[in-house]
Amino acid sequence: MTVLNKLIHVSLITLLLFSASAQAVDIENGKALHDANCLRCHDETNYTRENRIINSYEALRKRINDCEIMAEMAWFDEEIDDVTAYLNSAFYHFNLEK
Ligand code: HEC
Repeated sequence: MTVLNKLIHVSLITLLLFSASAQAVDIENGKALHDANCLRCHDETNYTRENRIINSYEALRKRINDCEIMAEMAWFDEEIDDVTAYLNSAFYHFNLEK
């Protein structure tokens, strides 16, 4: 390998690593998934009602996981993460910086 080749190689790997770690949750995707799949049994008023059952981000993610299993959708973890992030940003507003 020439030095130049090595350099290119290393920067490509850096780029790959960087884009993998920069692949944060996708709230837009979460909204699209939610709107297409999650309004069959309940609407969004469930998320804002006074006696709503969810009171932490973890509980929200677990609930979405449970609902998703009930709805037999077989989502990936990433999709559940996206929908959790969307519902949190749009409705629940749990603070993630602890
Ligand atoms: C098969 C029917 C069904 C589907 C489809 C469904 N849910 Fe649910 N969901 C429920 C039921 C039942 C509850 C509990 C409602 C209650 O306690 O009044 C609930 C509650 C929730 C809550 C808690 C609301 C609160 O009180 O804070 C969230 C969040 C939620 N669902 C998200 C989702 C998401 C996201 C999807 C799409 C993946 C989804 N649901 C799809 C049935 C469903």
